[in-house]
Amino acid sequence: MRQIVVLSLGGSLVNPGKPDEAYVSSIVRMLSKLPYRFGIVVGGGKAARILAERVRKRGGSEFEADEAAIEQTRRNAAFVAKIIGKEANQKIPHCFDEARRLSRKHRFVVMGGTVPGITTDSDAVLLAECLKAKRVLNLSNIDGVYSDNPIRNPEAKKFRTLSYEQMIELAGKNDMRKAGTHFVFDFLACKLIARSKIEAHFVHGKNLLDVRKAVEGKPHGGTVVR
Ligand code: UTP
Repeated sequence: MRQIVVLSLGGSLVNPGKPDEAYVSSIVRMLSKLPYRFGIVVGGGKAARILAERVRKRGGSEFEADEAAIEQTRRNAAFVAKIIGKEANQKIPHCFDEARRLSRKHRFVVMGGTVPGITTDSDAVLLAECLKAKRVLNLSNIDGVYSDNPIRNPEAKKFRTLSYEQMIELAGKNDMRKAGTHFVFDFLACKLIARSKIEAHFVHGKNLLDVRKAVEGKPHGGTVVR
């Protein structure tokens, strides 16, 4: 059986305002050629943040804001699954047990969010634990883990490698537990990679060469947490 690699695919890449078919097709084409099985967890992007904010403005709870955001992650996941075609599940699972069952039939298992209170980063690590993947990739529009937000602070330094403890400390500083707020990587996701010793690779999702190297566990321009 081929090795399985799990990808946390940022909503900002898949749906930066409208679904980006050209980008998703190009990454799917590249992944299809590699001798691996994949779990892909798709994020919500800007649309999820807008939906969550709309719920809050109507007086909805954080739980309800998360539910609305999760729906968007699932729509984005369905979009990705459709582009992959017959090698992927077309029904998006609601839980990991369902995802595990689907992984026995499909080379690509695609899903979105699951329960309120977490993000798709944690879902990706939980899926990796569930499917016994040794490697998780975080694909976003940032090319690694930085000492500070590289968009706001040009002095921010990119880490090549980090220990689990260092990563947990960084994520802890940024964790606000609110739909659509920005973390380096969800704090829970950091704790989960640490407990299962899952290697986490952070690369820019549009740098397909780096994405390929990360899938293969080879050195790349991003950050590796191990
Ligand atoms: P994302 O994983 O896309 O979160 O899920 P994010 O980090 O806020 O988004 P990006 O990476 O900056 O685009 C979107 C939102 O969906 C809810 C959370 O509110 C999250 O912020 N969500 C997602 C859940 O509540 N549970 C899940 O399992 C997944």
